[in-house]
Amino acid sequence: MRQQIMHVGLGLGLAATAAAVVTPKCGGCKETITRDVVVIGGGASGAHAAVWLRDNGQSVVVVEKADQLGGHTNYYNDKTSGKAINVGVQAWMEYKNAFDFPKRMNVSTSGSMSFTPNTAQYVDTKTGKPVPNYAAPEAADMYAALGRYLAAIEKYEDMVLPGLLNFPEPADIPEDLLMPFGEFVDKYDLEAAVPQIWDSTAQGLGDTMHVPTLFVIQASGVPMVRALLGTAAAAVPASGRLYDLFESVANFLGDDVLYSSTVITASRQNKGVWLKVQGPNNKVTCIQAKRLLISMEPTPENMAPFSLDKTEAEVLGKFKFPTVYAGILRHPSLQTLNAYTDRTPEPGSYNYTAFPVAPQLGRVDYLGGTTDLFQFTAVGTSEDTTESMQALIGKSIDSMIAAGTLPASEGGKVEFEIFANHGHMHAQVTADELRAGFVQKLNALQGRHNTWYTGAAFSAGFSTVLWEYNKVLLPSLVKGL
Ligand SMILES: Cc1cc2nc3c(=O)[nH]c(=O)nc-3n(C[C@H](O)[C@H](O)[C@H](O)COP(=O)(O)OP(=O)(O)OC[C@H]3O[C@@H](n4cnc5c(N)ncnc54)[C@H](O)[C@@H]3O)c2cc1C
Ligand SMILES: *[C@@H]1O[C@H](CO)[C@@H](O)[C@H](O)[C@H]1NC(C)=O
Ligand SMILES: *[C@@H]1O[C@H](CO)[C@@H](O)[C@H](O)[C@H]1NC(C)=O
Repeated sequence: MRQQIMHVGLGLGLAATAAAVVTPKCGGCKETITRDVVVIGGGASGAHAAVWLRDNGQSVVVVEKADQLGGHTNYYNDKTSGKAINVGVQAWMEYKNAFDFPKRMNVSTSGSMSFTPNTAQYVDTKTGKPVPNYAAPEAADMYAALGRYLAAIEKYEDMVLPGLLNFPEPADIPEDLLMPFGEFVDKYDLEAAVPQIWDSTAQGLGDTMHVPTLFVIQASGVPMVRALLGTAAAAVPASGRLYDLFESVANFLGDDVLYSSTVITASRQNKGVWLKVQGPNNKVTCIQAKRLLISMEPTPENMAPFSLDKTEAEVLGKFKFPTVYAGILRHPSLQTLNAYTDRTPEPGSYNYTAFPVAPQLGRVDYLGGTTDLFQFTAVGTSEDTTESMQALIGKSIDSMIAAGTLPASEGGKVEFEIFANHGHMHAQVTADELRAGFVQKLNALQGRHNTWYTGAAFSAGFSTVLWEYNKVLLPSLVKGL
């Protein structure tokens, strides 16, 4: 469902002779769109920002690479049950006044995510064998440890949420946020909570136990833990379909979204920004705007068309990104009603702090109410691709069959009903970079060359947190417009 990255750059020279040239900086366009603000990416943060900007009297245009809004929010229509199944984002974790946004878009938050009962079989997918003597922590131990985790991270909530704008100066960064997550777990006795933290969202970090605790907190922090403990909502619309929100935003924004489009060149100056955008059928459109808001992940590939200056390239170039994949598959050997979770503890030990690192197939869960569908999550390294991860998933299931963990099936092979390549996410840097003032340098990019940034890399990977981050960030963007 997601659009492939387009190969751009060809054919522009030819187009340049054709249409009327509107500004000298933007030749070769049949059409120039003039707006106050151009937003790149229409996922959780970009879609919200576009609505906020409109509501605050600004004209906007959104450039979205995919053929739909929503980013990590995606869905699959199950033919058997007729129900929409959320693929990717599963719920909106209650945070401050973030539910204002669905309400604004006439989408309810009255539904609630159901946490599936834990029927998982713990398997080392490299050997295909069940992990001997492994059992999940007792629920009471898990909840007690989650409570300790919440108490430990609530102290830092205002430093890291709704984003890193209030992050302390290097000398004042609490050591807790810099230490590898494994040490933080030892320090606060959180072992029994780690499988739940990892399963919910933290496995996407790639090597979760060794990244600075800050990034685990951004991936699985206060709103997530409160939802797990039942003290805050994990909301979904009454329909259960999170995508309803983005359908409503798409209606609201109408022609102000350029779908299946990417920026191919950009000129960012004090007077404003000029972008050349390539859309379907190689159509080139120019955009002239006073301000630019980047909401996609700031990977080198995504940022290449924006001709970053040295400072921007140096700061954004420090980010490392694992890759995340999710979707729905079927395989005749998988046993319905079951779930399979990748674990690599020390043989014979109940160790809740040892996890497989990327690339790995983290979970395969039977989707209740369907005949043979399983939802999966997998995490790759920065270099992994759809092809390499599909191969790894096939190999992981084959290894379980070869080891006798799953029954063999005639001609059985994995089929993907939907495979969502969520791409690079969970932006992270080393503790040494944090000590060297990385966050301050990152925040200093806001407004440089009329360019602002929202999205998970500047805030945290939760839709609701991003909506609150926009409320803090965007007033500085519109100042003087
Ligand atoms: C499997 C999975 C489960 C998750 N579960 C939850 C959950 O339950 N609750 C939750 O709150 N969060 C969840 N998340 C986290 C999710 O990352 C955030 O909530 C949120 O979607 C991040 O928003 P964003 O705006 O930063 O990025 P995105 O939502 O990814 O939006 C970025 C947008 O930019 C577009 N784009 C990318 N590159 C370009 C380009 N070059 N040009 C133009 N457009 C581009 C993308 O197509 C996308 O629409 C989950 C993520 C994954 C992968
Ligand atoms: C929400 O519903 C109200 C009342 O029907 C309507 O006036 C408004 O335009 C709707 N807003 C959106 C964003 O759909
Ligand atoms: C758990 O495993 C990790 C990684 O192998 C190891 O460092 C740690 O000491 C183990 N903990 C216990 C309690 O065995």
